[in-house]
Amino acid sequence: MCGIAGYVGKQNSISVLLSCLKRLEYRGYDSSGIAFFNQNEIKTIKAKGSLENLENKLNKIAFSSTIGLGHTRWATHGKANEQNAHPQLSVNKKVCVVHNGIIENFLELKNGLNDVKFLSETDTEVFANLLEKNLQNIKTLDKTLLVLKETTKKLKGSYAFGIILYNFPDKIFFAKKESPLILGISKDFNMISSDAVALLDYTKNVIYLKDGDIGYITQNEFKIFKDGNEVNRKVITLNSCQERIDKGKYSSFMEKEIQEGAMAVVSTMLHLLNANDKKLKELIYNTNSIYVVACGTALHAGEVFKHILEKELRIKVCVDFASEFRYKKPIIDEKSLCIFISQSGETADTIASAVLAKEKKAKTIAITNTHNSKITQICDVVLKTYAGIEIAVASTKAYLAQLSALYYLVLVFARQYNKKVGFSGLDIINLAKKLENKTYKTEIEKIAKDLSKEQSLFFVGRGIDYLLSKEGALKLKEISYIHCEAFAGGELKHGSLSLIDQTSFVVCVLTQKNLIDKMLSNIIEMQSRGAKIVLISCFDFLKDKVFYFIKVPEEKSFLMPFVAIRPLTELALLCSKQKGLNPDKPRNLAKSVTVE
Ligand code: M6R
Repeated sequence: MCGIAGYVGKQNSISVLLSCLKRLEYRGYDSSGIAFFNQNEIKTIKAKGSLENLENKLNKIAFSSTIGLGHTRWATHGKANEQNAHPQLSVNKKVCVVHNGIIENFLELKNGLNDVKFLSETDTEVFANLLEKNLQNIKTLDKTLLVLKETTKKLKGSYAFGIILYNFPDKIFFAKKESPLILGISKDFNMISSDAVALLDYTKNVIYLKDGDIGYITQNEFKIFKDGNEVNRKVITLNSCQERIDKGKYSSFMEKEIQEGAMAVVSTMLHLLNANDKKLKELIYNTNSIYVVACGTALHAGEVFKHILEKELRIKVCVDFASEFRYKKPIIDEKSLCIFISQSGETADTIASAVLAKEKKAKTIAITNTHNSKITQICDVVLKTYAGIEIAVASTKAYLAQLSALYYLVLVFARQYNKKVGFSGLDIINLAKKLENKTYKTEIEKIAKDLSKEQSLFFVGRGIDYLLSKEGALKLKEISYIHCEAFAGGELKHGSLSLIDQTSFVVCVLTQKNLIDKMLSNIIEMQSRGAKIVLISCFDFLKDKVFYFIKVPEEKSFLMPFVAIRPLTELALLCSKQKGLNPDKPRNLAKSVTVE
């Protein structure tokens, strides 16, 4: 969600923090700020809107400081404005805090601080003031850490805090519970961040902090404590080929990431095919129910898995939004298998659902693209996807990587239950390689010109094509702000058809031979109400029957999701661009939703 960065070292922290925040901007971008020591006081500089606004402000000043905190925000408590942006200073400017997460009991805590005149609407300012109050007359480091521990104990909710204290101008303090926080370790400096991405330009040695950890960094040391005792945490060296995060020749991350889809499929499948699947096989055997739990695009990938597993192996699967699963008292026990899919591995609802499944003793699998994320610490088996870092808020290559992991899982089920499926891992790899450079830009540019003028668009498909339509609709609405809704073809007559008239554009997906007749009659029924159909299909002969036609290659029917998703994501991208929007940073959204 929001992004945290902190630096203590020899360089000017302001420029280090700014470069870190650029890496983190995808996590939140409605305001940003930094804090640093200047002439014996803690100074904050903040700006509403994109990071560029902060950068412009910073360019006009000549401050330098070797210690500082930075934050990029996605508003939860209070409007996106400068007052609510982080860092938040306490009233006497002795405590300065950047925060990810939500303090649920902040109002109650605020009531206990009635002598404080609050300047923002944030829960973070409440914490800063509570800490300042509790630190009154405390001078020693030991006692300061004790107070930090005791104060965080009073908080309900989740947090990753970076804190600078007036009394300790050489230190950044930190505390973590349920929101990610990472230390970046080096000889001449130390850093904190909510995401390893921000540290990669400076150090590859990192420590993933655990819940309940508090501590501090200075230029040449770091200390971590848990329950009052100093603890050692493993230093992980990030892969040296960890991706550089830039757009390269592309005009947006989303465009680049769509292009990287084939690579995501090949790498994920190759890694999984070469992995030891003993534990996975044991886990999936002898289950009495299977749940797939996820949010957004990850849920859509899960629906494709359900479709294939049920159709091909006759194994029943339930798919649930994580936000529903966690509150509906799911019927699960030690014989249930729960599969959690999350690109980020830190989505709050998905994490809470995984914790719930563990409490109920269910068997758990995590499918994630973030290999050290929280979900990997919860589930019994982790299937890693290898899409590389996904920066654009709209998930594209990660969806393909999730599909790859899920198709691999189908193959493992088939082997374990001695059944046959009509594809192999190699089929998927070969297919992806073949499609690597396939793009629909030229065809879609023209279509996007028309569609981007619309207020509302419909997506229609049947079977697996309906599942793709849902993903296509999500992508387009997310980045173009056009209302998009997906219907199952057979459901049209049961209500939605009344929305269709001569002003409607309907994007139809048709990749399954057995559904041609049924889908064609849906198309005709919509056309007879005046709708203009954009058809994404592998069946050439339908070209002349519709307003716009996008031809995708014909592959084995089960594998068509890998093929047909590309034009849907390109359509979303080009509609967004056509409207002059930034597809990477849709309004009101952030890359990972670490709060409810
Ligand atoms: O990180 P996760 O996979 O758990 O995220 C789930 C959804 O928030 C995410 O897929 C979201 O729907 C995308 N922005 C859609 O493009």
